[in-house]
Amino acid sequence: MNPKAHQPDSLPAPGPGALAQSEALAEQIRMEIAAAGDWLPFDRYMERALYAPGLGYYGGGSVKFGRRPEDGSDFVTAPELSPLFAATLARPVAQALAASGTRDVMEFGAGTGKLAAGLLNGLQALGASFDTYSIVDLSGELRERQRATIVADAPELAARVRWLDALPERFEGVVIGNEVLDAMPVRLFVHGESGWKERGVIVDGDGFAFDDRPVAAKQDTELLASIEAEGELDGDYLTETHDAARAFTRTVCTMLTRGAALFIDYGFPRHEYYHAQRAQGTLMCHYRHRAHGDPFVYPGLQDITAHVEFSGIAEAGVETGADLLGYTSQARFLLNAGITEVLGEIDPTDTTRFLPAANAVQKLLSEAEMGELFKVIAFSRGIEETLDAFASGDRSHTL
Ligand SMILES: C[S@@+](CC[C@H](N)C(=O)[O-])C[C@H]1O[C@@H](n2cnc3c(N)ncnc32)[C@H](O)[C@@H]1O
Repeated sequence: MNPKAHQPDSLPAPGPGALAQSEALAEQIRMEIAAAGDWLPFDRYMERALYAPGLGYYGGGSVKFGRRPEDGSDFVTAPELSPLFAATLARPVAQALAASGTRDVMEFGAGTGKLAAGLLNGLQALGASFDTYSIVDLSGELRERQRATIVADAPELAARVRWLDALPERFEGVVIGNEVLDAMPVRLFVHGESGWKERGVIVDGDGFAFDDRPVAAKQDTELLASIEAEGELDGDYLTETHDAARAFTRTVCTMLTRGAALFIDYGFPRHEYYHAQRAQGTLMCHYRHRAHGDPFVYPGLQDITAHVEFSGIAEAGVETGADLLGYTSQARFLLNAGITEVLGEIDPTDTTRFLPAANAVQKLLSEAEMGELFKVIAFSRGIEETLDAFASGDRSHTL
């Protein structure tokens, strides 16, 4: 592919090796589009761009997570921002383990391993009894990076960590996933004068372009009719549906026979998600800490993500018979869980440690940053009481 064709001027150019990798992936996708009758639904394009073995964004070797573009990273997540995130999350995890009488933790999409290392240390510091910490990630490439982080940051607990290639049929314990649901492929739909169409991908010269096709399946037309009613749409409207994230939630909640599953991510309940004013959808790409809306830039080298529609996630979990344990903002969850106490453990006169920690807490809690956009949703089986982290400000009724 001619890299210039899809290189917005504002984005830094990748090196020749990365470009060659992107070109190899683009060629695979072009072949798949041709084999599928010259059109692919967007979720299939997104799946290939993110997870194609060896070449996709999470399947290949790019840096991804970090604080600055200079280190080659594209975006920062809460566990990368501050160890206080994991130290605080350890509290509801410990409470859920104790309340369900279980002893194992499972993390989906563990990134660099920072959250795992922080949770392991946090659980030990709280005196929580636990046996194993299992990691499940679609990205095999990240496994070595996770292992190195855990060995460096939690050396005494590293022997309890294992990586799973397949999910067990049953799991008793606590499941965690930070920013995993937003990394699942979405389908795109556009609404205009002629009704709904599904937005897919076609080959366009050396690159790709969008192409809209009529919606045929009854299941889709019913879902889209409910979105239309929800948003009282009028005028052009682009949005997403989240079949993969819902299926994933169903799988996890079916596997969970006792314990809790907590997912932290950015998004909204359905009535906010499908609001008429959100007419451009939420699809977003991240490359070197710059956010933009073109998923065809450097396939495999940039992250592609969409906000989570939490009402659909709640329905998917509850359909399996799991209880909805709580749903609230990240700020409320972390405050309830005691993040200010965790910060208070750092000596404020030690300014080199305290000031960056206080700044990070501000980012995690601030309404203008991550505090309000990010939510925590949790499901449970066999837990009678609610978690302290949901004790006030639970918004389950808004789903
Ligand atoms: C945005 S990253 C978040 C990484 C990390 N949790 C953090 O907060 O820094 C998303 C991660 O979810 C993983 N992922 C996506 N779908 C998954 C699935 N179905 N099962 C396991 N991991 C998945 C990706 O491979 C990737 O590592």
